[in-house]
Order: sequence, then structure tokens, then C-alpha cells
Amino acid sequence: MDMTKQQRAPFVEALEAYCAQHMKAYHTPGHKLGQGISDYQRRLFGDALRRDLGVMYALDDLFQPEGPLKEAMDLAADLYGAGRTFFSINGTTACIEAMILAVCADGDEIVIPREAHKSVINGLVLSGAVPVYMESRFDAARQVSLGPDLESLKAAVAAHPAAKAVLFTYPTYDGIAGNLQALTAYAHEKGLYVLVDEAHGAHFGFHPDLPAEALACGVDCVAQSTHKLAGSLTQTSMLHCRRDFPLTERVAASMNIVQSTSPHYWFLASLDSARQQLALEGREIIGRALNLARQVRKELNQILGITVFGRDIIDGHTVCGFDETKITIDFSGLGLDGVTAERELRREGIEVELVAGNHVLALITLGDTAATAEALVT
Ligand SMILES: Cc1ncc(COP(=O)(O)O)c(C=O)c1O
Repeated sequence: MDMTKQQRAPFVEALEAYCAQHMKAYHTPGHKLGQGISDYQRRLFGDALRRDLGVMYALDDLFQPEGPLKEAMDLAADLYGAGRTFFSINGTTACIEAMILAVCADGDEIVIPREAHKSVINGLVLSGAVPVYMESRFDAARQVSLGPDLESLKAAVAAHPAAKAVLFTYPTYDGIAGNLQALTAYAHEKGLYVLVDEAHGAHFGFHPDLPAEALACGVDCVAQSTHKLAGSLTQTSMLHCRRDFPLTERVAASMNIVQSTSPHYWFLASLDSARQQLALEGREIIGRALNLARQVRKELNQILGITVFGRDIIDGHTVCGFDETKITIDFSGLGLDGVTAERELRREGIEVELVAGNHVLALITLGDTAATAEALVT
């Protein structure tokens, strides 16, 4: 990776330089840089409205990038170790749809876990691919899915030898990471393309205590929600193809199909800026989140009736890694189910990410501080 280049944010720089020219606008959007917009939106977005631009001759085109946007996506590819990276203004949802569209034709079988995100189902509908399910292991005591293991994959492939691809959710929502390296090696040996929904792993490559990132496990295509656990705006994501992935151009064509032809430059600048932040400060800010999460987990586990699992979930077989920033708080020792616990927490001003079984999932991220970590424990 070229650290000198990573200091820059080429698309942010290009957008700012363009706005500094104060061009007279005779193009969309119709509010013309905020002049015709409603009072509410003017109060909400202020000067940022001058950057509400999408497709400008002076700047670059998301679908035929040749200038600063291409540079920005190339820098992201360099940072993540990809052959090519695509920015998405339609979340990981679009990335997952695009990678399925790229590898599967109508009637092709694709191996997926039962708990696949609904964007995977969208991908099946759009491509006409036929799902083949591999079994996931379930931890009944903790009430979380551990995802499929090698035996599950082998059974699915043996029953469906013509399957074209396999898609893994890595990590799970709860931060559980399977043995992706072994799963990928086996799938490739059997001639399957390996696609990964790494929506919850955009921060993995930036700290050695986190699970290995999917690209480092040898997979073909990875969709990541930069907005979830790295620092970009909601609905912005990246899709990475490994170096020399033969279907990269089909991925590019598919990304074209599943996104708006008027991508907001805010979102693209946001991805460029978040990439720069990760490159320059990733280790420090992700390390800080990890330390806060460890402290929160330790303190919560000292409260009678509450349990929060941690690295003890790793069994070296089905589960080979765990993201400690995911705090799954089990309230069953207090006689509460997750739904009730979430309601009680909300009454105290605490909003969690997810509810399931007897637990809620709270996230500690690069946005947390000692004060917000302590507030959760309190
Ligand atoms: C496992 C998983 N995959 C994919 C997605 C879709 O991501 P996005 O919201 O970035 O479109 C989500 C969203 O919650 C998710 O949890």
C-alpha cells in the first residue's frame, strides 16, 4: 500500500475545488444549490446544499470513472488489498445484488446460509439463481447463529455438485466469524465462486485483534457496509473484487444496473473521506473502540443476571474469530426477553442495534467515548 497516496482524498479535493469556483447552475438538481429549497431543508443542510450534485461534466462519473472518482476507488482498492473497488450509494444491498447478478445466470444454483440478508434474496430474484441452503450451526444457550462450517458446505456441495457459487455472511450480525479461509479453499477446489456479505466487517483489516478480513481469506468478491462500522454516511458501501477476479467487468456492469444514475456526490465524497480516515487513523480509532468494548463487556458481566459472551465463543472449528466490539447482552438471568429489555433500555434513553431471543445487541464503534461506554453500563 502506498501510504503517501493514502494521505489524499482525491474526490473530496475535486468536489471542494469545484464548489470554490461558484459556477452558475443550469442543471439538476432543481433546487439549484439550495436557492429554491424548502426552509426545513435549508436549515437542515445549510452550506452543504452547494455540494448537492450528482452527474457533472467537471467532476467524474461513478459508472465510467476516469478522474478523481477513479483515483478514490483505486485508493480504496489499494487500502483493502482488492484488485478493484466499487463505491455504492445504495448500501451493501446493491453490492450483494450486483455480485450475485455478476456470477449467476437464470437457473444457476448458489449455496447460501438460511439466515442470509434479504438483499441476497433480492439477488436471487433479479438473477433467477436458485438457492441451495447450507446448514448453520446454532448456539442454543446463547441463542445466536454460528454460521455454516466446513461439513455444512461439503454436504451442500455434495448434494448440488453443479452449484456455481457460494455466499457467506462473514461475520454474522453478532460478530461471529467462521473459518472463511478453509471454506473458501474448499469452495474454490470445487470450482465455486466465493462471494461474501461482509456488511459488518469494513473495519476488520485495521486491527490485528479483529477477525481476518474476507479478502485476506482468498474470496472472490466482498460487499462491505462502510457506513455500519467504519465512518461514512448511511447507505454508502464498497464492493471489492480480488486481484485477477475474471468476472470483475461483469461486477462493474451489474453495479450499473442496481444503482441510481444520479449518485449523490456527498455520498461518494463520504466514502473517499472515510477511506482516508481509516488509512491514516484506522489502527488507533478501531483500537480505541475495542478497548472501550472490552471494558463494557467486563463491567456488564459483573452485573448479576446479565451475561455478555466474548472470545469464549471461539471454538476453533465453526467459530474462528470474534469481533469484540459487538456486545450481545443476555438478560435471561433477570427473567427478561430481548424485546422487553430493549423497551426498558429505550425508556432509559439507550437505543440498541438489534433484538433477538433473550438478548439485545449494542455496538461500540469508532464513534464511542468513555462516557458513552459508561452510559451503556449504567
Ligand atoms: C448481514 C447484512 N448484510 C447486508 C446488509 C445490507 O446492508 P446495507 O444496509 O448497507 O444495504 C445488512 C444490513 O443490515 C446486513 O445486516
